[in-house]
Amino acid sequence: MTILVLGATGATGKHLTRYLLANGHAVKAIVRSADRLKAVVSDHPNLDVTEGTVLNQSDKTLQETVQGCDAVASCLGHNISFKGIFGAPRRLVRDTAERICAAIKANQLAAPVKYVLMKTTGNTNRDLNEIVPTSQRIVTSLLRVVLPPHVDNEQAADYLRVNIDQENASVEWCCVRPDGLIDQDEPTPLDIHPSPIRNPIFDAGKTSRINVAHFMGRLIEDEALWKEWKGRMPVIYNRALQNLNRTES
Ligand SMILES: NC(=O)c1ccc[n+]([C@@H]2O[C@H](COP(=O)([O-])OP(=O)(O)OC[C@H]3O[C@@H](n4cnc5c(N)ncnc54)[C@H](OP(=O)(O)O)[C@@H]3O)[C@@H](O)[C@H]2O)c1
Repeated sequence: MTILVLGATGATGKHLTRYLLANGHAVKAIVRSADRLKAVVSDHPNLDVTEGTVLNQSDKTLQETVQGCDAVASCLGHNISFKGIFGAPRRLVRDTAERICAAIKANQLAAPVKYVLMKTTGNTNRDLNEIVPTSQRIVTSLLRVVLPPHVDNEQAADYLRVNIDQENASVEWCCVRPDGLIDQDEPTPLDIHPSPIRNPIFDAGKTSRINVAHFMGRLIEDEALWKEWKGRMPVIYNRALQNLNRTES
């Protein structure tokens, strides 16, 4: 398969890029710095790197880029700096999704392209009646005012949920929602739920970035898994380790 990875230089995107290349796929990456990518993902004959950003490319260039892609995976996120959080582009994730989906639609491909978006449990799935604790509702309302990236993430999911919807002939989508992100070197078992089972603000679980990346990769590769989660927003947690050595009394 051929996959366009966005955010390949990031802490999650690098794991996804390595996973896809290791599994024999061709990867196209649009990155702001090819040198930064080289520092985290080794050169590979199946890795095609374009320097720039989706938002700075012309419609024609984007159409050429997505031509031949079976899937697009976005691990984009605002950098944790004053400029990253409050500077332009304020709607990085949402506008990127819109530009890429427009390019896919313009190509009028025979089969739909998968769009896999990394989000967070802090964003609810408004297609479902997710029960949001009052404490989370209050904090989320505050975040919408003080943290533009939170609104960007919500709008990106809403764009896919409302504008692309469930029966689009050109694009199928899935938003992957990890809980509190941690770094681990190896993938571990994970639990997948349609909605959060913990309060993401006051009782967050843990999800390793490598598990997020591998789950996104598996969604792209595995048709049965894709059928189960397309048009949905799976929440993933690292499975809690059992104390296997405990002796029952
Ligand atoms: N559940 C949670 O606890 C949680 C927490 C934080 C984030 N998240 C979500 O997870 C996602 C990624 O997390 P992460 O830790 O892997 O992020 P990360 O390491 O900060 O990676 C962000 C990626 O986005 C790129 N990027 C940032 N600003 C850009 C811009 N203006 N134009 C183009 N590319 C840009 C970065 O490129 P450069 O290398 O060029 O900077 C990098 O590749 C985010 O979407 C966020 O919503 C979830």
